[in-house]
Amino acid sequence: MKIGTPLSKSATRVMLLGSGELGKEVIIALQRLGVEVIAVDRYADAPGHQVAHRAHVIDMTDGQVLRSLVGKEKPDIIVPEIEAIDTDTLAELEKEGVTEVMPTARATQLTMNREGIRRLAAEELGLRTSRYGFAESLNELLQVIDGGVGYPCIVKPVMSSSGKGQSTIHAPEDIESAWTYAMSAGRVNRGKVIVEEMVPFDYEITLLTVRALDERGEIQTVFCEPIGHVQEKGDYVESWQPQAMTLKAMRNARHIATTVTAELGGRGIFGVELFIKGDDVWFSEVSPRPHDTGMVTMTSQRQSEFELHARAILGLPVDTELLSAGASAVIYGGLDEKAIAFADIDQALSVPQTEIRLFGKPESYLRRRMGVALAYGDDVNDCRQRAQESASRVHPVSA
Ligand SMILES: Nc1ncnc2c1ncn2[C@@H]1O[C@H](COP(=O)(O)OP(=O)(O)OP(=O)(O)O)[C@@H](O)[C@H]1O
Ligand SMILES: [Mg+2]
Repeated sequence: MKIGTPLSKSATRVMLLGSGELGKEVIIALQRLGVEVIAVDRYADAPGHQVAHRAHVIDMTDGQVLRSLVGKEKPDIIVPEIEAIDTDTLAELEKEGVTEVMPTARATQLTMNREGIRRLAAEELGLRTSRYGFAESLNELLQVIDGGVGYPCIVKPVMSSSGKGQSTIHAPEDIESAWTYAMSAGRVNRGKVIVEEMVPFDYEITLLTVRALDERGEIQTVFCEPIGHVQEKGDYVESWQPQAMTLKAMRNARHIATTVTAELGGRGIFGVELFIKGDDVWFSEVSPRPHDTGMVTMTSQRQSEFELHARAILGLPVDTELLSAGASAVIYGGLDEKAIAFADIDQALSVPQTEIRLFGKPESYLRRRMGVALAYGDDVNDCRQRAQESASRVHPVSA
């Protein structure tokens, strides 16, 4: 495996499609390895734009525009960082041999739509999931719930992320508003929802799973320690590592993760989301890329999930060793405003064994994730407390 000189004829070029906070860290990891990086997003000055060799603002759901940029930049590898991309064009570019797509174009196609990944996991791979059904009208939604999904259940647009358009149905009178809400929030309004039985889990985890080359040049699957997390309205607020699990639950979790990532193929890190009750494990969904709850690994692991992703996609060896327990807590914008400032960072960092990441997003919203506080140490619960304390000391202010 060779890496060339950036900005020269020998350069190894990687293009990130999506350049948010997760992309930014992947770019930094690639930069450290001497890779030439092209950051693409739909708005200017995205976090990843600020640390790449070149930055582009395009509509990535427009296949023509995407194809023409790839033709101009000639990346060796494309790394999708978000779901809102014309994945059919990615599949064509991959097939034509124009570029590699990591982990694979098919992985991005299947996971951008809840129906694709759910049917694959449950119906083809036989993995345990919540009971579910799909509906394209209010009437169908009623039928699916009455026909077996039952109460309580969760309705989600098939094309959405970060909890957008999701709501819980406790009783028949909630159904209409859940439908209306889902229709208002789908990413590409396909008019379709998944409705899932509410799994009464004890806790949920992200099992970061890496497909990387071993010393014989063959794909191996390795795991990070499980990450526990808390979600509010489908958006993560806090995560920690390691999450304690029974041996059996761990075995079940790893089996599910191995099976689903092998089917998606390619190289890179995957965030496998699982629900756990006792020894029982349900597959929820999977991201074929670093996971937001995995930001904790920037402090807890020798190689963060971003470094693992960078290494794996380049065909380099990986090491998932945990260095210490760790936790992350989200720092929100708190204001609807451009170019805000963050006060009291010194106070936040005076909490022992903590770090702060500010993503540099040009515009803040009340609930936009603008940064994260990280804590490391011997005890997970103690890390959680310090991460939250540190995050709470950061004060977004008008500049
Ligand atoms: N069937 C279910 N049973 C119980 N809880 C669920 C179920 N589906 C979703 N949840 C809860 O809602 C959260 C968000 O759901 P999901 O991961 O499907 O949405 P998302 O929009 O993809 O979120 P993200 O993009 O942040 O991962 C889950 O992490 C879990 O806490
Ligand atoms: Mg999720």
